[in-house]
Amino acid sequence: MGARQPLRAERRAPPCLVLVGLLLGVIQAAESNPSRTAVCPGYPDVRREPQGQICSPSGRVMTSSSCSWVIVGGPDDIIYIGFQHFFLSCGSEMLIIRAPNQPSRKLCGYTTPESIRVKGGNVTLTYSWKFWARNRFQLKYEREPKTQPVVSCNRTLDDFYGVIYSPAFSSDSHLGAAHCQWVLDAHDSRPLTLRFTVLNLDIGDSLRVYDGVPGDPLLPHLLRNLDYTSNNKIVSVDSPSSRAWVVYQAVPGTEGRGFNATYHVQGFCVPWDFPCGGDSGEGAMCYSTVERCDGNWDCANGADEDGCHGCPPGQYPCGGRGIGGAICYSATDRCNYQTFCADAADERRCYSCQPGNFRCRDGRCIYESWVCDGQADCVDTSDEADCSYILPRKVVTAAVIGSLVCGLLLVIALGCTCRLYALRSHDFG
Ligand SMILES: *[C@@H]1O[C@H](CO)[C@@H](O)[C@H](O)[C@H]1NC(C)=O
Ligand SMILES: *[C@@H]1O[C@H](CO)[C@@H](O)[C@H](O)[C@H]1NC(C)=O
Ligand SMILES: *[C@@H]1O[C@H](CO)[C@@H](O)[C@H](O)[C@H]1NC(C)=O
Repeated sequence: MGARQPLRAERRAPPCLVLVGLLLGVIQAAESNPSRTAVCPGYPDVRREPQGQICSPSGRVMTSSSCSWVIVGGPDDIIYIGFQHFFLSCGSEMLIIRAPNQPSRKLCGYTTPESIRVKGGNVTLTYSWKFWARNRFQLKYEREPKTQPVVSCNRTLDDFYGVIYSPAFSSDSHLGAAHCQWVLDAHDSRPLTLRFTVLNLDIGDSLRVYDGVPGDPLLPHLLRNLDYTSNNKIVSVDSPSSRAWVVYQAVPGTEGRGFNATYHVQGFCVPWDFPCGGDSGEGAMCYSTVERCDGNWDCANGADEDGCHGCPPGQYPCGGRGIGGAICYSATDRCNYQTFCADAADERRCYSCQPGNFRCRDGRCIYESWVCDGQADCVDTSDEADCSYILPRKVVTAAVIGSLVCGLLLVIALGCTCRLYALRSHDFG
């Protein structure tokens, strides 16, 4: 990790003063702060830019024999320092790099030191010399862009998405009693979804998710209380207010590592997922790399299965062959109660059916005329579930035959009546 390319690439760079202007942020800072011309300012030169350059004083400095710089870093920031030029005579010059929770590094000599990676907090550099000479060292620093807001115990987060996990999940912590809470407030009107991807709780450990934030008079109210019985499951919790409060308590001597969770505002995919696009309906709003081309429609519009396994865009793969040996099927072949693929991939996980079809609750489609006909056609019998009337197919047939018979009988009866009437009228006539 130490020797990153971008930092080492500019070893034969022009003098520092010119280079300082390379980055826009640095230029602005230089304009607003004349001391940046590297005449040692006599107080620490505070660097807040995400990246920049530091070099030994270039002007003749009589008043001071040491200079210091502070690269400001937050508790979660990682700061890289890469040397571009280094030429300090060990007897009379020294560069000291200090960072919290780390031994300070004292550097001198004529070989360029390895890059340095510092995690958490401000980094202070102090250059001291006995005999001043120009162009002694030049280094570049860069604050590692945060790939995702990662968070440890007792934090408030206001991002649209992020990751939270129990302390035992971070590399530098151990199992043990813990009491942590996270307040998530996306400042959005959409609900917030928390997804616990790893749950490893011991008996007695508790993990509670509340809607709202602490101190809210109406909220928070408990949404979910998780314990060890939820281990090894993926649990999603939605917070309608777009604010959630997560309280984790691990008992002393716990064997559980706790949890790992992601959260995001609904309708917003975390950066490592992909949006389904379109109206999601019952389907997912986002799909992950694992869900892409796994043969399961996760998105209602099939975006996660579109063009997979050699199918052109707009077509979906059959498992095995389909009608006419085709290996792909199109959207119109889907969910119409006519199996196109040998493995019926085109009839599984239907979020909607083709017109004239009814959607069973298990996501299959049947002909609409088979609904409420007294015969279950959906595997889960949902086509006969909510029928205010029942018109069995057999009864219809029976009724038709019955009415024909009745009609015939009526004709005979009428015939008889007429005949009788004719006879009677003849008798008395
Ligand atoms: C880091 O330095 C800045 C600027 O000097 C200062 O405001 C801040 O409090 C420092 N942070 C820590 C953790 O010392
Ligand atoms: C927690 O889950 C996120 C997203 O799935 C993953 O990127 C991260 O590495 C996990 N963190 C730990 C500590 O396991
Ligand atoms: C987090 O806050 C709780 C309650 O405010 C406190 O008891 C606990 O010690 C804190 N945990 C850490 C690791 O600071």
